[in-house]
Amino acid sequence: GHPVRIAPSILSADFAKLGEEVRAVDEAGADWIHIDVMDGHFVPNLTIGAGVVKSLRPHTQKPFDVHLMISPVDPFLEGFAEAGADTITVHPEAGPHVHRTVQRIKALGCRAGISLNPATPAKTLDYLLEDIDLVLVMSVNPGFGGQSFIESQLRKIEAIRTRIDKLGKPIDLEVDGGIDADTAPRAIAAGADALVAGTATFRGGPERYAANIAALRGEA
Ligand code: DX5
Ligand code: ZN
Repeated sequence: GHPVRIAPSILSADFAKLGEEVRAVDEAGADWIHIDVMDGHFVPNLTIGAGVVKSLRPHTQKPFDVHLMISPVDPFLEGFAEAGADTITVHPEAGPHVHRTVQRIKALGCRAGISLNPATPAKTLDYLLEDIDLVLVMSVNPGFGGQSFIESQLRKIEAIRTRIDKLGKPIDLEVDGGIDADTAPRAIAAGADALVAGTATFRGGPERYAANIAALRGEA
């Protein structure tokens, strides 16, 4: 397979200069830009909407990996697609008909991702996996950056890796939460091929971003 993708979560960036921050992580070697959208209802925090995504779009050509933690989610899909999302990832708990949500994301021309909370079983993918482009395993409970990696999610990553390989489709397996230079190699060993990292990317300021990203790849 391809080398692991690193997706800095801009949740840990300086929100007063998001455009600059996105350009800085792009230049520092980010593969995707992970954008955490929270509604204060599905998760206990508020972040950004489609307007901010649209304003960021001219600042990089890297794919926008948009993680929607909002419920209901369907009314907002079109806005994020139009704002320039490349992948739109939703939680199965965020609407009554998750398969329909996946169909809508694809009809909007985006790649579709499904995110599993720590207590949501891999079995939830049973009738979804063949229709999606990405699985996002939450290794923290969604809502905040800077939380600790939940060990039990390694087993889930292994189980999903087996299923993706058996299916033989190029589905990305991304992990989100508590990823740093210690947990990254463990997530990769379990089968992840994309890593979200907020705290571990942005710590130390812009002059550290390239080294921080390299460390996640095991290059430091
Ligand atoms: C949590 C978000 C994550 C978060 C990761 O709800 O989905 O993307 O920003 O932050 P770190 O890497 O700091 O755990
Ligand atoms: Zn996220």
